[in-house]
Amino acid sequence: MTDFEKIKEGAKKVWAGFAPLEHITGTAAPRLIKFANINSGQRVLDVACGTGVVALSAARNGATVVGADLTPELLERAKENNTIFDLDVEFHESDVESLPFKNEEFDVVLSQFGHMFAPRPDVALSEMLRVLKPGGTIAFSTWPPELFMGKFFQIISKYSDPLPEGFEPPPLWGNVDTVIKRLSPTSHQIHFDRDKILSPGLSTGHLLNMFEKGAGPLSKLVEKLSTNPKVLKSLRNAILEILSMYFENNYLRQDYLLTKAIKK
Ligand SMILES: C[S@@+](CC[C@H](N)C(=O)[O-])C[C@H]1O[C@@H](n2cnc3c(N)ncnc32)[C@H](O)[C@@H]1O
Repeated sequence: MTDFEKIKEGAKKVWAGFAPLEHITGTAAPRLIKFANINSGQRVLDVACGTGVVALSAARNGATVVGADLTPELLERAKENNTIFDLDVEFHESDVESLPFKNEEFDVVLSQFGHMFAPRPDVALSEMLRVLKPGGTIAFSTWPPELFMGKFFQIISKYSDPLPEGFEPPPLWGNVDTVIKRLSPTSHQIHFDRDKILSPGLSTGHLLNMFEKGAGPLSKLVEKLSTNPKVLKSLRNAILEILSMYFENNYLRQDYLLTKAIKK
């Protein structure tokens, strides 16, 4: 197994418990759908779809939608959500770096806080564009490195084993200059916007607890450090410190970047 295959196997375990946080990412889904101008008659793919919050929101707008994700547990919940909505979204277990779809099959390819976690941005992007028609829209929401979630992931990497060579830090997908550099060879009309998610929580301690339970990379790290209370305490303090910077009126403010572009 290559380093990247090992990362994907690890990622499935890391994200398996993410479903309870769908009520948070779910609040951002309609924003991405509006930003990407999703409407009926379009064939839409949502990559790294998790429990399907974006895919199902696109289907509610009348699009024909397919969702794809690496993690079987999340796809189970996505199918349950599909039944609750009484929609007809197809869900596939698949890696964004190797999509099981034909060339130029979709009018729109979306990803919300998803494709950014694939280890090789160039491979993930070339797959997303391969399955997109020329003139089609690619649109995604990502966490900028300098804001809450970007800092959260920086702390996690500081306390984790070093990543293999070639693994690009996910929040680089939230940096405008990097996104322009990555998209401009294949796409044009690149547009950006910003928005925020407000996650309710009674205190920074409550929010830490919520992320420890549902945010895969942190849950796994806390599990690993359970035999090392001193380091675990220092990790928790570092996260509490950034939580307090973005916590106001019993909400955590998580700002994000929206990007859309047209495939040349
Ligand atoms: C933060 S969750 C976001 C899920 C969903 N898009 C949402 O907005 O709720 C990150 C998702 O990326 C998926 N993921 C991570 N690496 C992936 C890969 N290489 N291919 C496909 N999905 C991947 C995880 O399984 C997880 O569902």
